[in-house]
Amino acid sequence: MQLAVPRTDETVAAQSQNQSGLSRGWLRLVADYDKNTDSYQRWAAGDSVYWLLEWTVLLRTIGPVEGLDVLDLACGEGRLSRALMERGAKSVIGIDISREMIARAEQQNQPDGPGPRYPGLTYRQVDARDQTFTLERPVDLATALYLFHYARSPGQLAQMCRFIARNLKAGGRFVTYTINPASRFEPQEPRMETMFGFRYDIVDPPEYRLVIGDLEVPMWQWTKEDHEAGLRAAGLTNIQWHPLALPDDKAELTPSIRWYLDNPCCVVLSAEKPA
Ligand SMILES: C[S@@+](CC[C@H](N)C(=O)[O-])C[C@H]1O[C@@H](n2cnc3c(N)ncnc32)[C@H](O)[C@@H]1O
Repeated sequence: MQLAVPRTDETVAAQSQNQSGLSRGWLRLVADYDKNTDSYQRWAAGDSVYWLLEWTVLLRTIGPVEGLDVLDLACGEGRLSRALMERGAKSVIGIDISREMIARAEQQNQPDGPGPRYPGLTYRQVDARDQTFTLERPVDLATALYLFHYARSPGQLAQMCRFIARNLKAGGRFVTYTINPASRFEPQEPRMETMFGFRYDIVDPPEYRLVIGDLEVPMWQWTKEDHEAGLRAAGLTNIQWHPLALPDDKAELTPSIRWYLDNPCCVVLSAEKPA
């Protein structure tokens, strides 16, 4: 499948100088996830306490999804998209900029693929910064498990927020698991890599580099104000930040990750489109 040239401020600006219409940065990001998909897929299939932390507050904030139409942004190989179908969503459309990630996601939803097949689950290769992409039908819920830190500027973060708002029904909700604006990335805690399997290298804050095995991707840590301004400008309200926590029945694990909970690199963020 060919990816349409995304219409973003960055690419619109680039079009006047560059015949392809694509900025170098955009190409680099696609290539990173397209080339090293195995490393990410292996990491995402892990089962350490990090994944317990990742899912607990995210799923609690998402709440019941039975009968809902959902848009899962930056779906990658589809682990959240599938989990939402498993929990009873009526439909899930997963979108991702990476052709390879979408191919992996689709493969897992084939009748003879390695994962369960959900007829209501579909995927599309789309850039979440696209300024015009509009679903045939707006959804009840939009989710994103790691997206906003791929915005290369607060302006691109605002484009992503507009993408979300444009595709939500009035009264719809948005829930994301994202980089914590309050996290201190320096000094780097070595247990991040040994226990959780990834690290962040300092590049030129707010730019960092996420390293998972041989996968290296640029990422940005935007402020709380940048996030809230982007969401508000897109017309979303009731913006709430939800700190990470372990499930009640796993509270005994808390001391082993106290070092992380004191400076968590991620947080859950939610907002609503007014009814
Ligand atoms: C860390 S992976 C997360 C994938 C999946 N949500 C998960 O948690 O397993 C980040 C994903 O964001 C996608 N991505 C990055 N920038 C994007 C953009 N502008 N629009 C859509 N997807 C994007 C990448 O291709 C990659 O699949």
